[in-house]
Amino acid sequence: MSAVARFVVLEGGDATGKSTQMHHLATRLRDAGHDVVETFEPGATRLGARLRTLLLDEDGPLDPIAEALLMAADRAEHVAEVVRPALQRGAWVLSDRFVPSSLAYQGVGRGLGVGEVGQLNELATAGLEPDLVVVLDLAPEVARERLGMSRDRMEGENDAFALAVHEAYRDLARSRGWSIVDASPDVDAVATAIWAVVEEHLAP
Ligand code: TMP
Repeated sequence: MSAVARFVVLEGGDATGKSTQMHHLATRLRDAGHDVVETFEPGATRLGARLRTLLLDEDGPLDPIAEALLMAADRAEHVAEVVRPALQRGAWVLSDRFVPSSLAYQGVGRGLGVGEVGQLNELATAGLEPDLVVVLDLAPEVARERLGMSRDRMEGENDAFALAVHEAYRDLARSRGWSIVDASPDVDAVATAIWAVVEEHLAP
């Protein structure tokens, strides 16, 4: 099979099932004969792992601009070390989060502005755009129940923050052509819905 590089990003609020769904999609693509790299943000590189600890394991608030810059630093390293090299060899790269997370969480959730955070991320990614963004959509109250009591710094944000992020994903998906998949059914049903979106847009 000739190798056609593809960059697919799975997005959504916390506890929407992104990582489980990414593994399902990766398995399906590998079964179809593709070279697949599964990755994530923040934290997929050596620098990123340290940034992830700073971003998520510390207690208490972080200045929103510092937070956006650290997410962008993680992303710059991730693009340079993982994403671009894999795309250059013709792999499918599946990433659990990318720029859309910063637009939704920092741009809208923290109120920094989608335009400003977008510009910062242009620099971080050198303009790399995903071929497909799939947003897993789950009501924040259902996601809260799935999260339970063990929460990191971002997951511990209040309900208003989770709601703002949820609405931001919906609005941004509409304006930017991202695909939305209902994440409330069982794992297999969601996997089937994601596969249908991938087939429709990228004909794997
Ligand atoms: P994860 O637990 O899905 O890996 O996500 C880590 C947390 O970081 C999650 O609450 C979303 C948040 N986040 C941002 O706020 N901005 C970003 O750019 C990224 C990648 C993640």
